[in-house]
Amino acid sequence: MPLDATRPLPISGEPVSGSATRTWPEGFLWGSATAAAQVEGASHQGGKEDSVWDAFARVPGAIAHGDTLKDAVQHYDRMPEDVRIMKELGLGSYRFSTSWARVRPGDRGPNPEGLDFYSRLVDELLDAGILPWLTLYHWDLPQALEEKGGWANRDTAYRFVDYANDVYSALGDRVQHWTTFNEPFCSSLLGYAAGVHAPGRQEPSAAVAAIHHQHLAHGLAVNTLRSRGAEQIGITLNLSNSIPKDPTDPIDLDAARRFDSLQNRIFLDPILRGEYPEDTLADLEQFGIREVIQFGDLEIIGTPIDFLGVNHYHDDLISGHPTGGGDGHSGGTTRKTSSCWIGSEDIAFPSRGLPRTAMNWEVNPDGLRKLLVRLGEEYPTLPPLYVTENGAAYDDAVSSDGAVHDTERTAFVLDHIAAVGEAIDAGADVRGYFVWSLLDNFEWSWGYGKRFGIVRVDYNSFERTIKDSGHAYRQLISSARANG
Ligand code: NOJ
Repeated sequence: MPLDATRPLPISGEPVSGSATRTWPEGFLWGSATAAAQVEGASHQGGKEDSVWDAFARVPGAIAHGDTLKDAVQHYDRMPEDVRIMKELGLGSYRFSTSWARVRPGDRGPNPEGLDFYSRLVDELLDAGILPWLTLYHWDLPQALEEKGGWANRDTAYRFVDYANDVYSALGDRVQHWTTFNEPFCSSLLGYAAGVHAPGRQEPSAAVAAIHHQHLAHGLAVNTLRSRGAEQIGITLNLSNSIPKDPTDPIDLDAARRFDSLQNRIFLDPILRGEYPEDTLADLEQFGIREVIQFGDLEIIGTPIDFLGVNHYHDDLISGHPTGGGDGHSGGTTRKTSSCWIGSEDIAFPSRGLPRTAMNWEVNPDGLRKLLVRLGEEYPTLPPLYVTENGAAYDDAVSSDGAVHDTERTAFVLDHIAAVGEAIDAGADVRGYFVWSLLDNFEWSWGYGKRFGIVRVDYNSFERTIKDSGHAYRQLISSARANG
């Protein structure tokens, strides 16, 4: 369903229609998400030491405006207040990540003070009736491990299991839902090939090794957590429909195939089928993909999971004609540059003329419906799906009444939720939706300049204000529950 700019938008206190009045599957989870590095701050308190992002932020020019993770949005200090806001919003679940560099500073061994923070968070959530949804890796590798080769080093996969074990020992009695990795695409290709994310390396072969080693770490951790009693274990991938600009042009078709290979199938296939796609192996042979795969790895990586988290923000129109196609996808964003399409730098992202967010990403809710339906059609062993991230950055302003009337974000969220409903109607087994993000926060190489929150953070006082989108989401959750 396309965004209809003429439709009246709900504002705080007004009823929302559409997705709120439909019936959602029993137990459908309504949540919101953040990640440790983006919200916690206290980057060198409580025993925490450098992650790759702390180190990357010290590289001149790496982060917009020279922003750092030092304070982020002070969630480490304001956690009880943030949980109160979640309760006020009526969230059923909160998706957060633990910081490896806080849990195992320098990866030397467990840090009781770091684990205690997450233990208090989990208790606070449970007291508020909110289900903790824990992600182990949201990109903040201890810098000490990067200095030993980072994800290009196979040993990092085994160190990840030590870390997962420490977190499970502290929280396994209370946390049911475990996500191994968030968006391995970014922490491998953006970090090791494009160099626009930490650790800022531009080494295609290291990126290929990083992908495989993160897969291995995932599979090893699934087995370990399962053996310790975890029953709900999954991974979150950022997936995008790859749409050839001219479906009759073999060059566009091949570019769309290669994009789909690096964005989607290189992650989905090993995890859900226990194999890399043949065309991916052929494309990446020159970067040593066959050499990093050892006997038995794929069996570990393909260990069945209990859910797949899907992060979706936009689709990608693809052309294989790099000149004249424009860069509709990125338009200057550092999020994806041609250098993350290793071996496929000719891929171009023409514009479809759709409305765009402040990230210059297209707004097209129907893409989410298509993606959720397509996954079930293409992967027979697909476990239940959760939309673990979806949301939008806009340049919000505080109005004279003190409120944030973020009509575009409100429409974005409601229209995407409607698209999730349509996917369910079409047979997709979707069990939850998490809006990104609960709070405005540190948007990686963009720093604090891009605001995704349904709750505004004033970066001087750190005061929180629920935006209209937050009020609309609260209302939708409450109506959806009433109709359930
Ligand atoms: C996906 C990432 O998981 C999250 O950390 C990021 O802030 C959002 N996308 C928006 O870019």
